[in-house]
Amino acid sequence: MIWVINGPNLHALGVRQPDIYGSDTLETLQGKWVELGRQHGVPIQCHQSNHEGAIIDWLYEARPSRGVILNAGAFTHTSVAIRDAIVAISPCPVIEVHISNVYARESFRSHSMIAPVCRGSISGLGVMGYELGIQAILTLPKAT
Ligand code: DQA
Repeated sequence: MIWVINGPNLHALGVRQPDIYGSDTLETLQGKWVELGRQHGVPIQCHQSNHEGAIIDWLYEARPSRGVILNAGAFTHTSVAIRDAIVAISPCPVIEVHISNVYARESFRSHSMIAPVCRGSISGLGVMGYELGIQAILTLPKAT
């Protein structure tokens, strides 16, 4: 199992600032990730929440899985609690994904609370970043 967790405002993909985040809806993307997993014989569990606590609960649930693709949205820049959860579920690998290039935008987006405790980070490659993250987890040796 691989988990794909999306944080605040990402339920509005396709509608929210499509010039930055693209025109695909989250539902369409989730279908593609599930299909990608199916091709590799790995179930993909997709979740989105605008609430920090829900994301933390899912991270703990994901602990026994192959890994997590996490776009924590704006919580990336603020959440010590999500960072602590990522550390707590170690060695389960968490890959940080951002659709936009967070380093090319407002300066507050250049700081990630979670990057130092993630296995790796992907930023600025559009929604392809999620697929690359899934491919990376499939390639990494199993952590547990
Ligand atoms: C984002 C970048 C964040 O700074 C922003 O708050 C988001 C989306 C991205 O995918 O590019 O909500 O994580």
